[in-house]
Amino acid sequence: MLATNFRGPRRVRVDQKPEPEIKHPQDAIVRVVRACICGSDLHLYNGSVPDTRIGTTFGHETVGYVEEVGSEVKKIKVGDKVLVPFNIACGKCVFCKQQLFGNCHESNPQATAVGGIFGYSHTAGGYDGGQAEYVRVPYADVGPMVVPDWMDDDTAVMLTDVTPTGYQAAEMGGIQKGDTVVVFGAGPVGIMAARCAWLFGAGRVIVIDHIDYRLDFAKKWCPAEVYNYEELPDVVQFMKETTDWIGADVAIDAVGAEATGRIGQTLLGKKMHLLGGAATALQWAINSVRKGGVISVVGVYGPVGALVPIGNIVNKGLTLRANQASVKRLLPRLVEHVENGILTPKDLITHHIPLEEAGDGYKMFSLKLDNMIKPVLMPPKANKTVH
Ligand SMILES: NC(=O)c1ccc[n+]([C@@H]2O[C@H](COP(=O)([O-])OP(=O)(O)OC[C@H]3O[C@@H](n4cnc5c(N)ncnc54)[C@H](O)[C@@H]3O)[C@@H](O)[C@H]2O)c1
Ligand SMILES: [Zn+2]
Ligand SMILES: [Zn+2]
Repeated sequence: MLATNFRGPRRVRVDQKPEPEIKHPQDAIVRVVRACICGSDLHLYNGSVPDTRIGTTFGHETVGYVEEVGSEVKKIKVGDKVLVPFNIACGKCVFCKQQLFGNCHESNPQATAVGGIFGYSHTAGGYDGGQAEYVRVPYADVGPMVVPDWMDDDTAVMLTDVTPTGYQAAEMGGIQKGDTVVVFGAGPVGIMAARCAWLFGAGRVIVIDHIDYRLDFAKKWCPAEVYNYEELPDVVQFMKETTDWIGADVAIDAVGAEATGRIGQTLLGKKMHLLGGAATALQWAINSVRKGGVISVVGVYGPVGALVPIGNIVNKGLTLRANQASVKRLLPRLVEHVENGILTPKDLITHHIPLEEAGDGYKMFSLKLDNMIKPVLMPPKANKTVH
């Protein structure tokens, strides 16, 4: 089958690989019809995630048809179309029982932080991902959800990660009615977080990035006040000024390790890999909220330390919440929001790219070329109809 093949930093190729097989009675094999590239994949692509092995198949946002199931799989059957959450979760461990499906203790057994994630290095369990023609899905009765008849493939794939992550970013902010929420990052995740902030009662939503086409999209779609940080003398100063010198109530970091904007962070965190990424957006978030405010972090950082102003967290009495999104926990509510027209996540998809051209897709997404917001890879046998 065709599959992405990581060859080292900034080199993703598509090659022929053996088709996956059932390895455990709870596995399913899924024939992929949609597989997104995510901002999280850029951490792998840039070589920032430890133990990302040559030969890995990336991809954790997948929709496809069930081709084969193991003997213990009961809830999905051959022929079903399923959307597969990015987290791999056993459904039974102490963390899954608390609905912390992003922190499963069984799917990544040597780890004490993240659970298993498709196509996300051996740090996240060493599973091959869905940017391929077929993918093996472990614990197939737990994560995958049968796609309802009325839902198109593009919408379904946006429910595997971006929509739940943006929603959880807003949820973790503990937004109160009328709150001012500032979102750092106008990528798919930040745009969705800004949109969802309104659902929780925000009174003012501000989005900050430095890429104008993304800010323009956020301005109309979220909708939000948008600012290009390169045009502001000082982002934190501006955030204070625009909130009567109080600060925002809630700040969301939807950027993570690849942040730009501060040379020291970039050098130590991105170029030299001495830190778990450039924590520029997180630093701005911490310094932009009011005393007693909340920081919600969905941007992904590496496992080693990063440069964050911990003193300001303490002295301002901030609450910091963070996690990988718990996709399975949020799906029922989000499917309802999509059905009712409250969320229209496929609007964020700007590019459908043949799987064979995934290498170019990575390059374009990484460099933010051609006004790209969210790219979806299409295997050769996928239904090419774009709704
Ligand atoms: N926690 C989760 O479950 C989860 C799930 C999906 C993605 N993520 C993470 O969310 C982050 C965003 O993902 P995405 O797909 O939207 O990525 P993306 O690369 O498309 O978007 C990131 C955006 O941040 C902007 N940016 C860079 N530095 C900035 C700064 N200092 N201030 C403000 N904006 C800045 C970039 O210009 C870009 O538009 C990534 O770190 C990704 O790993 C987390
Ligand atoms: Zn993702
Ligand atoms: Zn578990």
